[in-house]
Amino acid sequence: MRRFLIILTPAAMLAASVHLAPAQEAAPPPALAVDTAAGLPQWQKVYEVFSHPRCANCHVEDDRPRWSGAHYGATRVHAFNVQRGTDGSGFGNPGLRCTTCHFSSNSNILHGPPGAPNWHLAPAEMVWFDKSSAEICAQVKDPARNGGRTLAEIAVHVRDDKLVGWGWAPGPGREPAPGSAEETYQAIEAWSKAGAPCPAID
Ligand code: HEC
Ligand code: HEC
Repeated sequence: MRRFLIILTPAAMLAASVHLAPAQEAAPPPALAVDTAAGLPQWQKVYEVFSHPRCANCHVEDDRPRWSGAHYGATRVHAFNVQRGTDGSGFGNPGLRCTTCHFSSNSNILHGPPGAPNWHLAPAEMVWFDKSSAEICAQVKDPARNGGRTLAEIAVHVRDDKLVGWGWAPGPGREPAPGSAEETYQAIEAWSKAGAPCPAID
């Protein structure tokens, strides 16, 4: 009831008590108050990480991881005809698995393969590459497309997962994602607490 009251003006409260009180039992529960002013700046921090090439190059809709950054020249599809894999696993085609070249830690040589445990492409529905802030926001909140996670689970995944962590320690020549895993975890928590608002579709 308290949440309901803070979003109503006194006039509306009076109107509600006069006209709507009899229907109250049947009314749907009030929606969680969304604090857009507090939440959107937190989402912006999350978006700047998720859309960064160190993250988005593995979160693609098609079958090709991307390479991008100064030492690659431009954004391009991964060389060597690397694919998601005919089995849809994200680990690459049999005979040319990601782990043929990507080990559990980074090569120290410029243009050597980066590494982290369990290196593979994110499922296609978790797409961020070339997507807008509004689109990424909607995906992250959708359990049908985020691996069935709550926002609290997303935050913990970002803080603790080794593939995610690689984005802040990507090896020679690659720009790290902005901030840190801990800062991104905090931003997701704060955004979630503010009701997880998404920006308007642009
Ligand atoms: C090497 C590839 C790779 C990189 C790089 C990568 N991810 Fe992922 N990501 C994955 C895979 C694979 C999954 C699916 C894991 C699962 O569902 O268990 C995933 C899932 C996720 C999820 C949960 C689902 C969703 O889309 O909401 C989040 C959050 C996430 N990654 C964040 C990040 C962030 C942040 C970065 C960069 C700092 C990053 N990832 C970089 C491969 C990658
Ligand atoms: C034949 C070897 C080989 C295979 C197989 C391979 N990679 Fe790579 N990958 C590389 C090399 C080498 C680099 C670094 C290139 C450079 O820095 O110039 C790289 C870089 C990357 C990057 C970093 C791009 C960036 O901009 O930060 C990602 C992401 C990536 N690979 C994902 C994958 C995924 C996912 C698979 C499996 C589906 C895979 N790779 C399979 C050799 C390979």
